Amino acid sequence: MAVIALKCPKVKVTVVDISEAQIAAWNSPNLPIYEPGLQEIVEKVRGKNLFFSTAVGETINESDVIFVSVNTPTKTSGIGAGFASNIKNVELCARQIAEVSTGPKIVVEKSTVPVRTADSIKRVLKSASSHEFQVLSNPEFLAEGTAITDLLNPSRVLIGGEQTPGGLKAIETLVNVYANWVPKEQIITTNLWSSELSKLVANAMLAQRVSSINSISALCEQTDADVDEIARAVGSDVRIGNKFLKASVGYGGSCFQKDILNLVYICESFGLPEVAAYWQGVVSINDYQKRRFAHKIVQSMFNTVTGKKIAIFGFAFKKDTGDTRETAAAFVMKDLLAEQAKMSVYDPKVTREQMLTEFKYTLNITPENTPKLNELIVTVDNAAEAAKGAHAIAVMTEWDEFAALDFKAIYDSMAKPAFIFDGRNILPHAKLEEIGFEVYAIGKPHAKVF
Ligand SMILES: NC(=O)c1ccc[n+]([C@@H]2O[C@H](COP(=O)([O-])OP(=O)(O)OC[C@H]3O[C@@H](n4cnc5c(N)ncnc54)[C@H](O)[C@@H]3O)[C@@H](O)[C@H]2O)c1
Repeated sequence: MAVIALKCPKVKVTVVDISEAQIAAWNSPNLPIYEPGLQEIVEKVRGKNLFFSTAVGETINESDVIFVSVNTPTKTSGIGAGFASNIKNVELCARQIAEVSTGPKIVVEKSTVPVRTADSIKRVLKSASSHEFQVLSNPEFLAEGTAITDLLNPSRVLIGGEQTPGGLKAIETLVNVYANWVPKEQIITTNLWSSELSKLVANAMLAQRVSSINSISALCEQTDADVDEIARAVGSDVRIGNKFLKASVGYGGSCFQKDILNLVYICESFGLPEVAAYWQGVVSINDYQKRRFAHKIVQSMFNTVTGKKIAIFGFAFKKDTGDTRETAAAFVMKDLLAEQAKMSVYDPKVTREQMLTEFKYTLNITPENTPKLNELIVTVDNAAEAAKGAHAIAVMTEWDEFAALDFKAIYDSMAKPAFIFDGRNILPHAKLEEIGFEVYAIGKPHAKVF
């Protein structure tokens, strides 16, 4: 919305949220999320044509176009628990829009939703109001960490709508918003269902590439092949391409897992168990990769990490974001916690409070059910401090600053033998070995420890 406000000075954009704390933060100098370039844009347009408010009903009523961008997490109970997306918040928005609108509106699904959700929204709107509503699907393809550049130069904008005169007119209205900065040929228009499903398929295919290369990383560790060399050799084929072929400890983030599980659920619901099993495999390999990394740490360190200090470098699910949802770090740390390892965590953008929230909601680990949690997991504010006296370092997030650390000084401050487990393959491995570290990276010949 900040980018729309920046690029469309004549459009008034008001962001509303039921969370007063969120809106207060958006109106303050300390935005609630970290995203490179976002602060500058918000500061430029806030108060001009970008506003943040908790006046949800009032704002709905004065708007022509309403983007529904609420969270749609995986259901935790009931039908489809653990797989289906919970569209409760989307439906609540639809009900509120119908209730307060005194004229026609275009309702845009920006949240990632199961295919045919637009149908449900439309029915809710129609049953509660006599005004004309058009529902469009406009899934968001930005990636956290590069959100602003992705939005300024999107590979494509996708808009789905009903193929009726009213639907096509609504599509045109939204196309004209994006056309302020996106070339028309990059604005793809489709029917509603293709647009909704495209978002799930895009995320499933991106995650599939990560799981594909990660599955090969396990084979590399058994065969003395090097996964980064394979990624380069394979990715040079233009039919395959070189993006998203970086082996790692596993993908995280709020979207991949949720969207694939949702796709799996949809396939099951439509009686396609083979298709569901195919996509479930992408998630299973990711779970395996996270588990495998934790096992590698324990096995390499003489089959015990009990009471040993391990420095955890990074907790965010990837660099340049403070987002920790579904981060691989939490899963690896859970396994190390079960071994009673002592962990010292440093992440430049994640607070201890946020980390504990992730433990609570994703893994159901709290100080109440895990009394030693606060003793076994501490947080510090720099990498050198985390590594001081540690037996091992585990790199969980690919923050650039980790590759530039003074590893000689870090080595000198650690217990020996000093191990490094590079879950992101970002460190200078040969140099570290020269210093004296025992280095284990993903899919590297010397990582054969199983
Ligand atoms: N985060 C991403 O990178 C990304 C990318 C593409 C798509 N998406 C999709 O966008 C949607 C939102 O994701 P997010 O990461 O921004 O979620 P989020 O949880 O960070 O934010 C959702 C916000 O919606 C608010 N909210 C919930 N119900 C509301 C209601 N009835 N009225 C007003 N506000 C309400 C919440 O208070 C919260 O602040 C999801 O469907 C997600 O799949 C996210």
